[in-house]
Amino acid sequence: MNAAFQDWMKTVQAGSENDLSAFLPVADVLPARLHAAMRYALLGGGKRVRPLLVYAAGALFGADAATLSRAAAAVEMIHAYSLVHDDMPCMDDDALRRGKPTVHIAYDEATALLVGDALQSQAFDVLSQADAVPPARVLAMVRLLASASGSAGMCGGQAIDLDSVGISLTLEQLEQMHQLKTGALLRASVVLGALAGKDLTAEELSALNVYARAIGLAFQVVDDVLDATADSATLGKTAGKDAADNKPTYVSILGLEPSRALAEQLRVEAHAALAPFGDKALRLRELADLIVQRKA
Ligand code: IPE
Ligand code: IPE
Ligand code: MG
Ligand code: MG
Ligand code: MG
Repeated sequence: MNAAFQDWMKTVQAGSENDLSAFLPVADVLPARLHAAMRYALLGGGKRVRPLLVYAAGALFGADAATLSRAAAAVEMIHAYSLVHDDMPCMDDDALRRGKPTVHIAYDEATALLVGDALQSQAFDVLSQADAVPPARVLAMVRLLASASGSAGMCGGQAIDLDSVGISLTLEQLEQMHQLKTGALLRASVVLGALAGKDLTAEELSALNVYARAIGLAFQVVDDVLDATADSATLGKTAGKDAADNKPTYVSILGLEPSRALAEQLRVEAHAALAPFGDKALRLRELADLIVQRKA
């Protein structure tokens, strides 16, 4: 990873942390326990890959900073909510997230449920106030995030994931599950960042979709590989969980080396899709590399 990319990442991550904090109620405003738990779930952890994608895509079209900050915060709030619920006993039943006890352990189950609900609402509150762009475009952005989060996106993928415990999926079914549970929000991050800059032509949207589908799938393939190969301290979440829970994953269906090879193939596809954008897509290219080569 080159130094300029690392500096850029640190700047976006620190800026996102500040924005997320500013977009949340402070912890002593009533109901204080819920607000404290929302801040616990959202702040001080996570790689912030979705905000990074928003900013990198925003760079394609010179998007304005206030819109990017709202779009990035909104998608990260949806993602953090999905993690809080993913870890609950009725889903993956995990005790560790982002190096800390999960929300239902640090607080309680009902609070974890409400943290997810409230973060989801807060995401749309934040995004709907992106008033530096024309209202029709804000509406398109809100709708994009809604469909990427709901039953045609992340929630739908989570439902398939839970229904698939103990059964073997075909590669096609596995890809569909991954595209929904993880790919949809990553794709939304890319398109939101671009929409923060301008209305997109059909060609621009199609190129971004090819990129986003490749990195979206690659992200979850690598998540599956890391679950099987890294340790909990490195991941900040419980390693080895997929095999223990009998979940179908790329590792269980394809094997470790073919999964790694697939991620690398998707990285190359992602780069190719960015060709029409030239130098302006530098950060998107570097993020594709990061997503595939990451160790945590
Ligand atoms: C983990 O996401 C869950 C998946 C969607 C695979 P991340 O790996 O982006 O988790 P954080 O945000 O860095 O904690
Ligand atoms: C989670 O997938 C995807 C979402 C939270 C939507 P995983 O269950 O594999 O994520 P981790 O491994 O717990 O982070
Ligand atoms: Mg899960
Ligand atoms: Mg999980
Ligand atoms: Mg996982």
